[in-house]
Amino acid sequence: MFTNFVLFTLLALPPTTTIPLTPPQNTSGISGKWTLLHDNLGISPMHMQLLHNDKIVMFDRTDFGPSNITLPFNRCRYDPFDPMLQKDCTAHSILYDIQTNTFRPLSIQTDTWCSSGAVLADGTLVQTGGYNDGDHTVRTMVPCDDEACDWVEYHGYLTERRWYSTDQILPDGRVIIIGGRQQNNYEFYPSTLPDYFIPPLNVSSFWLDFFKTDEVISENNLYPFVHLLPDGNLFIFANIRSVVFDYNQNRVVKHLPPIPGDDPRNYPSSGSSILLPLDENTQIEPEVMVCGGAPRDAFLNIKRAREFIRAVPTCGRIKVTNENPAWEIETMPIARTMGDMVILPNGEVIIINGAGSGTAGWGNARDPVTRPVIYHPNGPPNRRFSVMQSASRPRLYNSVAILVTDGRVLVAGSNPNPFYNFTNVEFPSELSLEAFLPPYLAKEYDPLRPEIVSIDVEVMEYRKPLILMFTVLKFLKLSRVTVRIIAPSFTTHSLGMNQRMVVLKEDKNVSMVGESFMKTYSIGVFGPSTAEIAPPGYYLLYLVHAGIPSLGVWVKVQ
Ligand SMILES: *[C@@H]1O[C@H](CO)[C@@H](O)[C@H](O)[C@H]1NC(C)=O
Ligand SMILES: *[C@@H]1O[C@H](CO)[C@@H](O)[C@H](O)[C@H]1NC(C)=O
Ligand SMILES: *[C@@H]1O[C@H](CO)[C@@H](O)[C@H](O)[C@H]1NC(C)=O
Ligand SMILES: *[C@@H]1O[C@H](CO)[C@@H](O)[C@H](O)[C@H]1NC(C)=O
Ligand SMILES: *[C@@H]1O[C@H](CO)[C@@H](O)[C@H](O)[C@H]1NC(C)=O
Repeated sequence: MFTNFVLFTLLALPPTTTIPLTPPQNTSGISGKWTLLHDNLGISPMHMQLLHNDKIVMFDRTDFGPSNITLPFNRCRYDPFDPMLQKDCTAHSILYDIQTNTFRPLSIQTDTWCSSGAVLADGTLVQTGGYNDGDHTVRTMVPCDDEACDWVEYHGYLTERRWYSTDQILPDGRVIIIGGRQQNNYEFYPSTLPDYFIPPLNVSSFWLDFFKTDEVISENNLYPFVHLLPDGNLFIFANIRSVVFDYNQNRVVKHLPPIPGDDPRNYPSSGSSILLPLDENTQIEPEVMVCGGAPRDAFLNIKRAREFIRAVPTCGRIKVTNENPAWEIETMPIARTMGDMVILPNGEVIIINGAGSGTAGWGNARDPVTRPVIYHPNGPPNRRFSVMQSASRPRLYNSVAILVTDGRVLVAGSNPNPFYNFTNVEFPSELSLEAFLPPYLAKEYDPLRPEIVSIDVEVMEYRKPLILMFTVLKFLKLSRVTVRIIAPSFTTHSLGMNQRMVVLKEDKNVSMVGESFMKTYSIGVFGPSTAEIAPPGYYLLYLVHAGIPSLGVWVKVQ
């Protein structure tokens, strides 16, 4: 079988990061490690997206004064309606290079405050909406390896104002843009409709019912949690309720039970949500997890009485396609609002950043939660959370966290106060970039750490077999090797849009992980079954041995 394949040797991979000892599967007492990458990025990133060339697009907003980095080519932006600064010659977006730990300014010209985004199948970042002069704008960023690429803005592209909406990449390669402030509707990028789409675009009472709440100020339906399900429908969660939605027919397929406890989970309560890893080796049963948030009165109590109510300590898990779906509730070791949930290469979930009381919004939070927790989805009940080492900096409103290629979690932003206020405020604007190194990056695990030597295809095609060659110093056993792909998220406001992991189906007929030739092993897997399970595009591929992931390798799924 092997002889028919040409093996493409992978390009140089980034060096392994080193951190102190933490035991492998038994997580008691382990804590990971924090490192500071930059003290001053010039901006306070509230939106981040990793691109397939290992560069990260970061941006904040244009309407709260000058940042600490100037626009390239002596550019300035002029906006007579900007409340802070009508002429601003500073940048509000940067492109960060992971390999070199350097960054350069990018030229965003209209306001991106509380916007959304997704990466197209060709690797282009599409960012949608914002505020003021940017609320109908679509912006694209095509990755490049030189200094040439920058934002391209399409003003007035969107039909509706999109402020606090959620984007999801679809199996056919389009992006659906859902909701936003006072928007009980959705639209698409590109906006041209495929033949099979059944109008009307202007959606029905479903949206009004579903997104409506009695709270006037605190809507709790902004940045709805959206996950693409393996059957092609969307899971949509707002406030305490969720549905399975068929966007092609503008039809609710199923109403799921409300999450117990009556605590709203969306902005400004700002819990977080993920689709748990989909495993193609078992019957796929999509399961959504929602963690943290703030009680119903939290936002109004701050406005009325400067009272900071304790955040919600619970997580709920629901098997969406189950005949009688029910929420399974678990309690986190630390109550948290504005946490980010990030899927790690080994299938665990880190919950990082946020506050122990209050809600989203300026000055609305207290008790920074500086300790991340790691959740083990398949661990024994009541023993699924491990508390990690504390960060030194609070990361409250508008902080972000994303996974990067080598398995670190990068964390940035917090409290972009008016005029980037660093003084006389309880929580100053945060311009730094930090990395959290989860326990699996400990140097002591290096003997167990697999290294991918080659992949026999350049493109991962749906259902087609591929073979990975890898080395590992201390090989444990066959059943503990898996190959997974992760779609990097567009992260903002505690929500990792488009984040998903698929564990690829193993081809046992070609796997030779039990035998060793010069300590090189092979594993055969199949590309994802469908575009509903993994929409086309660039993914980070990880080979995981005994719970320890390799460095990530970019693959294009098509
Ligand atoms: C982990 O190891 C410690 C010390 O060896 C032990 O007390 C604890 O019960 C173990 N925890 C788990 C989850 O296995
Ligand atoms: C950034 O901050 C530093 C230190 O306060 C200052 O010297 C520098 O001029 C600032 N740069 C810009 C572009 O604001
Ligand atoms: C939907 O209909 C409402 C009321 O008829 C209208 O105000 C709104 O602009 C329409 N939106 C879209 C997306 O067509
Ligand atoms: C920062 O906020 C404090 C408290 O509201 C205020 O006194 C100060 O003027 C602000 N500084 C700037 C630069 O806006
Ligand atoms: C593996 O080989 C067996 C026997 O030749 C065959 O029946 C089976 O379909 C193969 N499985 C896969 C996943 O290719």
